[in-house]
Amino acid sequence: MSNPSQRANKLFVQTFGTQADELYCAPGRVNLIGEHTDYNDGFVLPAAINFHTAIVVKRRDDLRFRAVSDAYPGEIEEWTFGEEGNPVANHWSNYLKGFTAAMATSGLAPKGLDIAVVSNVPMGAGLSSSAALEVAFGTAVNDCSQIKLSPLAIAQLAQRGENQFVGCACGIMDQMISALGEKDHALLIDCLDLDSEAVNMPDSLSLIIINSNVQRGLVESEYNLRREQCEQAAEHFGLESLRDLTLATLEAGKSELSDACYKRARHVITENRRTQNAAWALESNDIAKLSLLMAESHNSMRDDFEITTTEIDYLVEIVSEVIGDRGGVRMTGGGFGGCVVALVDHELTDAVVATIEQKYANKTGLEANIYLCSASDGARRIDN
Ligand code: GLA
Repeated sequence: MSNPSQRANKLFVQTFGTQADELYCAPGRVNLIGEHTDYNDGFVLPAAINFHTAIVVKRRDDLRFRAVSDAYPGEIEEWTFGEEGNPVANHWSNYLKGFTAAMATSGLAPKGLDIAVVSNVPMGAGLSSSAALEVAFGTAVNDCSQIKLSPLAIAQLAQRGENQFVGCACGIMDQMISALGEKDHALLIDCLDLDSEAVNMPDSLSLIIINSNVQRGLVESEYNLRREQCEQAAEHFGLESLRDLTLATLEAGKSELSDACYKRARHVITENRRTQNAAWALESNDIAKLSLLMAESHNSMRDDFEITTTEIDYLVEIVSEVIGDRGGVRMTGGGFGGCVVALVDHELTDAVVATIEQKYANKTGLEANIYLCSASDGARRIDN
């Protein structure tokens, strides 16, 4: 029984001794291009993927929440709305409590729920298992209490919960794509005004995600440091964010900035341009152009933003040798490990898989996991 929805129903009955009322799910995501641009008010181009978190719930008449997850058997987490307390370091329930805490500070008043959670989004791989959890939960709370928040508002509350309760300074990309994803499409999001546009993914391409299985140890501290460096660079030029900085102004002020701040800003400015161009290339099926832009994006993450690892660089190198300009490949997500994304002509899929199997473990001592994915719909209620 590998279907998360079925498993969630079973877990609910085992835990609470009764059937659940409703079922909701929200997907993980892969970012095609536009990395570390979201918190700089820039552009991102993610797609929701066919790995998701399922949440089954039963309404309660009080303000109490009780939650169980199959990833942490035997633990039932309980809290009262508006009394979430302090987060417990690295605990899965922080993502749920963060959401209700964000609702409380926004003056929204939901009813309590009993909840069972099951997910097949790989954890710790940079595919946004946490956003899938937050958004699935937020969608459930919103629907069950008939609060009538839009998917975008749910994403914003989820991000606020993660920023203010969990303590992670993430941008809006992961929550937005999990809430708003569209089957067979990526979403070009302008993180300045949160406008988004669905971009068709050509039928001719396979979406391959390769988990490097590199331990993402430094990810939080390094993520926050990158964010600070970007903010410092923007502040130096008297700007709210790097969105308004041009390459020419950056170059003119280069000597006044630390080398790190200069390089971080250069990545963000050039990545914004690449992301808009990649959306256009995807829409118009210009795969050679997409290939080039993804390669440039990877190089910029490696040399300017300095968030790749040697294993990840190696994966990108061997995949790009196979696909040439018939597809694109780059690291995806926050960095320091995690996954590589490749969009490749279907005919080359087997060759990509074979090359990874032949070379990656030999060179790095790590086994890669390969997921053949498709772009999927965002969070929704499902008939249970
Ligand atoms: C993580 C964050 C996102 C985004 C990416 C990098 O996934 O949660 O907001 O900043 O890293 O692009």
